[in-house]
Amino acid sequence: LITDVRLRRILDSRGNPTVEADVVTESGGFGRAAAPSGASTGEYEAIERPPGEAIAAAREHAVPRLVGEAYAGNQREVDAILRAADGTNDFSKIGANSAVAISMAAAKAGADVLGAPLFQHLGGTFRGENFPIPLGNVVGGGEHAADATDIQEFLAAPVGAPNVEDAVFANAAVHAAVSDLLAERGVPSGKGDEGAWAPSIDDETAFEIVDEAVSLVEDEVGFEIRFGLDVAAAEMYDADSETYEYESAGISRDTDEQIDYIADLVDEYDLVYVEDPLDENDYDAFAELTDVVDSAALICGDDLFVTNTDRLAEGIDVGAANSILIKPNQIGTLTDAFDAIELATANGYESIVSHRSGETEDATIAHLAVATDVPFIKTGAVGGERTAKLNELIRIADDAT
Ligand code: PGA
Ligand code: ZN
Repeated sequence: LITDVRLRRILDSRGNPTVEADVVTESGGFGRAAAPSGASTGEYEAIERPPGEAIAAAREHAVPRLVGEAYAGNQREVDAILRAADGTNDFSKIGANSAVAISMAAAKAGADVLGAPLFQHLGGTFRGENFPIPLGNVVGGGEHAADATDIQEFLAAPVGAPNVEDAVFANAAVHAAVSDLLAERGVPSGKGDEGAWAPSIDDETAFEIVDEAVSLVEDEVGFEIRFGLDVAAAEMYDADSETYEYESAGISRDTDEQIDYIADLVDEYDLVYVEDPLDENDYDAFAELTDVVDSAALICGDDLFVTNTDRLAEGIDVGAANSILIKPNQIGTLTDAFDAIELATANGYESIVSHRSGETEDATIAHLAVATDVPFIKTGAVGGERTAKLNELIRIADDAT
């Protein structure tokens, strides 16, 4: 039985405040989790409130309904109480940031009571055999860095790695190889919000460099590495002119040209993964691209689906994609995230569990990815708040959580 829920403001990786929750149980169980935060957020995401307000609202409306009432191990009950306490569809009262922090902290407290690792509490005793392949952000721009690539993320995908440890180190090696190649070209570079290099180069140059970096590391490690993209196209879409604006390249593409461009990129670079290649309101264009690409790559909806089963169901109806990005804070609870994964799986869609650009050292998503047996986890390549998840995957594989 939950006996206390404590909420506080802590720092995230961008230096912004975010919500951290502690859940304590009668039998001495303890769980702590923190909400991440997006920069290129989808229009239809659950609402993140300023942390101070979200904490005050959750203390007033949600905490009294949980304490002495709910069992931390009963995730559906905890999350249903959070929803009822909020009373809106989008967590605009207590904030999705308070909701997700409490939801994840309750899960950890539930696991603690059981004495089981979190992935096992969430996924069952037979989980922990399969590991997701980490998608590592090695070059990026968009909303995550000024004056860098238009495409938000270039993601290394070590698809042939024999184990998660080798996969994690392969992505770090690609990240390092990109740095060397940039230096050879005399291009200075800092890093963006997710730790990817954020040089002032156009997308075409980024493709050349990432392609070469991947090949170099592939030769070194001896297994297949491919790469993918998060285009985050909603951020470059201009609804008035109905065009995608590639500002650093000075190119403007209408929807048909965008579909052709992405399909050509999949072909030319053998991309394994393309997230949000089109605007978040354009299900039809998504469907057209998914049809053209014909399962050569995962076409993934992030801003399109926002981890929301209603939006996913709409997408499934028209064949808008073949995979969904899962971000618990986009929807507010672990229950909602699980429901989205279940609906995806039942309809032949893959799920990819993901971090946000603003993160903390919280590693819940590593456990979520193992618990749900997803093929990929997107959680960066380097940087403490990213390696928190990657290192947790290594620990889970080593049975050391
Ligand atoms: P965000 O970006 O966390 O800033 O929304 C990540 C993504 O678009 O996948
Ligand atoms: Zn995205």
